[in-house]
Order: sequence, then structure tokens, then C-alpha cells
Amino acid sequence: MTIQFSSKIFPKADLLSPRALKSSLSILLAQPADCLVLAYSKADLAALAGGRAKMGLLAELDRLLGGSVTRAKQLGDLEGAQASVCILRAEQSWSAGGIKASRIALVSLGELGKTNTSQPFDVYAKIARAALKSLSGGSIKSALWYAPSFSGDAQSEHLAQEVRLAIQYAGDQAYRFGVRQPAMKFKAKDQADPFERLIFAGNDVCARDLKSAVAEGIALVEGMNLAKDLGNLPPNICTPTYLGKTAQGLAKKSALKVEVLGQKQIEALGMGSFLSVAKGSDTPPQFIVMRHQGGKAGDAPIVLVGKGITFDTGGISLKPGEAMDEMKYDMCGAASVIGTLYAVALMKLKKNVIGVVPTCENMPSGGATRPGDIVKSMSGQTIEILNTDAEGRLILCDALTYVERFKPKAVIDVATLTGACVIALGHIHSGLFSDDDALADALSKAGKTSLDTVWRLPLDAAYHEQLKSNFADVANIGGRPAGSITAACFLSRFTEKYKWAHLDIAGTAWKSGAAKGATGRPVPLLLNYLLEQK
Ligand code: BES
Ligand code: MN
Ligand code: ZN
Repeated sequence: MTIQFSSKIFPKADLLSPRALKSSLSILLAQPADCLVLAYSKADLAALAGGRAKMGLLAELDRLLGGSVTRAKQLGDLEGAQASVCILRAEQSWSAGGIKASRIALVSLGELGKTNTSQPFDVYAKIARAALKSLSGGSIKSALWYAPSFSGDAQSEHLAQEVRLAIQYAGDQAYRFGVRQPAMKFKAKDQADPFERLIFAGNDVCARDLKSAVAEGIALVEGMNLAKDLGNLPPNICTPTYLGKTAQGLAKKSALKVEVLGQKQIEALGMGSFLSVAKGSDTPPQFIVMRHQGGKAGDAPIVLVGKGITFDTGGISLKPGEAMDEMKYDMCGAASVIGTLYAVALMKLKKNVIGVVPTCENMPSGGATRPGDIVKSMSGQTIEILNTDAEGRLILCDALTYVERFKPKAVIDVATLTGACVIALGHIHSGLFSDDDALADALSKAGKTSLDTVWRLPLDAAYHEQLKSNFADVANIGGRPAGSITAACFLSRFTEKYKWAHLDIAGTAWKSGAAKGATGRPVPLLLNYLLEQK
């Protein structure tokens, strides 16, 4: 962990009640914090200039601080644009009132809470991100974040989601690969953010929600950090064996039960499709099964399946060289499943969740699968391999057959599956495919509340035409048109026994260019989905 999160309850602090405002502020200001973070509304700002009957958060604060807020306003530092942040630094006038905070960050909500826009969560996200940015990279080490002040005019039902999102963003902001992997010394320059502690304050009204949201947020960041680390590690270190060892290591750190199957066991299961991809590599394939038993023994589990190609050269259908290094990220589906399972275990989720990861390399060699080869999948269906670069679906289809044994409530697979998905949706939304409207809606909703969004694409029967083979039950490619959809259609042929959704994260799992690095997506989406399930 590169940043620490905690909660602190001040039972009587209530900035929404005019009568309790002064005493509530006094309680918060008496905390010896590097920075107290408070959000204010447009009305608070208007009231600051309101003559003798000055009311509201900023006016009351101004009185307690001996005029600091008014001075900031006069200097033009407090103009009130939504998501702008003004940091007040301790002045001599503060000490007289027993004020222990060294700084106060005033964060503008703008119109939020009054207009109640159709997407207030997007606005909140923008505001939280700006506030966190103002705390980072300077001399502020810790901050006390008064969560209810961000929740608009009424006690927000979204407080837990808001706190979780703030933690998610703070975790993103603090993540440094080189700091988390010091033994590797890949890049000595990485330095930890000086901002290392974020404390969420609340009152007795929101105490329970706040505490559980902080615990969930901490688990979320741990899961995301793990997913990012695995994605960012070079492919000579993050091999299938390494992924298996990592999963087994989590079983020692948590209540997860982990089983890793090797080549022989995979052969015995009849996973001819998966094995055809691993054939060209000197590194053996692994099949990882992780179980979280948080529900009743008989409760049907939710199963997550992640694509774990630790390097995708394309195989004999070799990829062009440009940016090929980024194909180390072809195991980000696996990383997100491992990260999500770890988070689920840390938050002791009261549900049964299983994570399954088929993992291998896709390499060209004398032993590699050729275009034209026909293989038999675990389901019994034969597959004509027309392009060895369409390997993700070949390892996933056998995993999707394997998970039938769990009699799942739902199965969600996560994969950096197609370049076509990057063309269709760019780096904003992950692709979502499902024949089950309720499952698709639940995932879309979870994406919105974690700002880890998806866009649903079709999965009609008509597209299956493109997968016809003259020599086998199905071909592994469907041509260039609708490449992401035909890939999903291929997978759907192996998922008939349960409710299923597929997430194509080819455009969202990592960033290219100067900020190259894994994003940890879709861990937030998956966790939000799991938390929302009844
Ligand atoms: N891992 C790639 C998909 C990919 C490409 C993800 C670029 C992110 C960025 C996948 O295994 C692949 O190579 N897919 C092929 C499928 C094609 C041969 C039908 C693709 O997208 O080109
Ligand atoms: Mn490929
Ligand atoms: Zn691939």
C-alpha cells in the first residue's frame, strides 16, 4: 500500500444544520490535521458576501478563522468554479480560536446538490479528483476529508459510493510501480507521493456507511494495485508460473482457496483448445482456480474468468513489431480476476465467488499450432484455427466449459480480446456482451457508479454465420467486420449452460504512450457489481 486510508467519526459534527454549524466546525478545526478538506456550495459562497446576516459554511468558517476566507475571496482565490480548490494556510488569527488544522482545502461543488443533474456522480468524480490532486505532490502528508460536506444538500444516499470512489482515485494517484516493486529496481527514479494518509471524517448519521465504505475502498485499492502490478511486470517475470505462484501466495494472506493445475492435469481435462495455444512456448501453461467461500455452502457462486496470455506474439500468425511490448498486457483479464478475488477476500464479502484463469504464452516455434490446424475443445466442439493470433478465445472457451461444474449463478469473462474493440470504443468504455438483459444492466450500472464504464454491443445469431468452417464445427475467426462481436459469438457457443457476460477490455486495461501503465480496470466495476448483488 502506498497510501493509507482510515475513518474517524465525530458524532456531533453536522455542517448541514445551521444551529450546529459553528460547534461542528470547531470540532473539525481542533483536529491536528495537515489539511482539512471541506466542500462548499454556490449558496455558501453567495452567503459569504451577504452583509450582516452572513450565514452558511464559508461565513461561519470565516468568523472562526478571523477573516481568512474573506481575504482569500478578495485575492480572487475563491471564485467558486465547480471543482476548483482553494487552500487556506494557517495564519496567526487561527491559533487564538484553538484551531489545530494547518491548512484547509475548500472544494467547490458549484451547482451540485441544487440542480441534481442527471449524472451527479460524474460531477462528483470530477470534484473528488480535483480535490485529491490539490493534496498530492507537495508538502501535505495527511488530510482529514469531511465526507458529508461533499454530499449536497441532504444526507446523501450516495455517501458510501462517493467515499469508495475517492479512495479508488486516491489509490490511482498514489500508485507507483517502482515503489511497489523495489526489489526489481527497474527504475530507481520512482518516488512515493508525499501525500500518504487520507482520513475520512463523518458523524453519527453516516458512521456505519462510512466505515464500511472505507473498508471496501481499502480492499478495492489493494485489488487494483495487485492487478496493475501484474500487468506492468515484464513478460520475462510475469509468466504463467508467476501468476500461479501469486495466486497461491494470496491463499496465505487471506481466506482464499487456490488450486493451480499444470500441463498434465490440463491434458487430462481434455482442454485441447487451450493447449493448442500453449504448444509453441517453452513455458508451461497453468490453470488457476481461486475460491472465496463467503456465502452459504449451497449458494451458487458468481464465477469470473480472466484471459491470461502473459505475452501475445500472435504465434505463427505473427504480429507486426510496432508496440508489440504492450502484448505483455494480454494477461490483464487474468490480473483483474486475481485482483478482484483478493479484494473480495479482504472485504470478507458474504457471497461465493470463484475466479478462474487459463494462462500461457502465445509464441511461434517449431512446435507451435499452424493456421489450418483443427483442435478439439473440452466441450467436444472442433475448432479450425485460421489465425493463431485469435488465441484468447481458444484458451477462454475451455475455461468456460470447465466452470459448468460450479453450477454458477452467473459467469463473467474478462479479456483483452480484440483490437477491433479498441477501434470501436477507444479507451473510454470496455465492451460488454451478453444475451441476459438483467446481467448486462447490472454490469452497466456497476460501471457507472465506479466510473469504470462499459458499452453494450450486440450478440445476434446472424453474426454466427461468419464463424462457419468447412472442416470443423467452428472457425476461430470471423473476418474483419464486427471483429469484437464475432469473438464474443465464438465464446457464447461455450456458455449455453449458464447466464454469461463478456467484457472486452482491450482498450481500457492499460494506457499507452508517456503514461504507459496498467489501469487496474475492470476491478472497480467487478467489485461494485459483486457488492450490489443480493
Ligand atoms: N490480444 C489481442 C487483442 C489486442 C490487440 C488487444 C491490440 C489490445 C490491443 C488478441 O489476441 C488478438 O490478437 N486479436 C486479433 C484477432 C484477429 C486475429 C481476429 C486482433 O484483434 O487483431
Ligand atoms: Mn492475439
Ligand atoms: Zn491476445
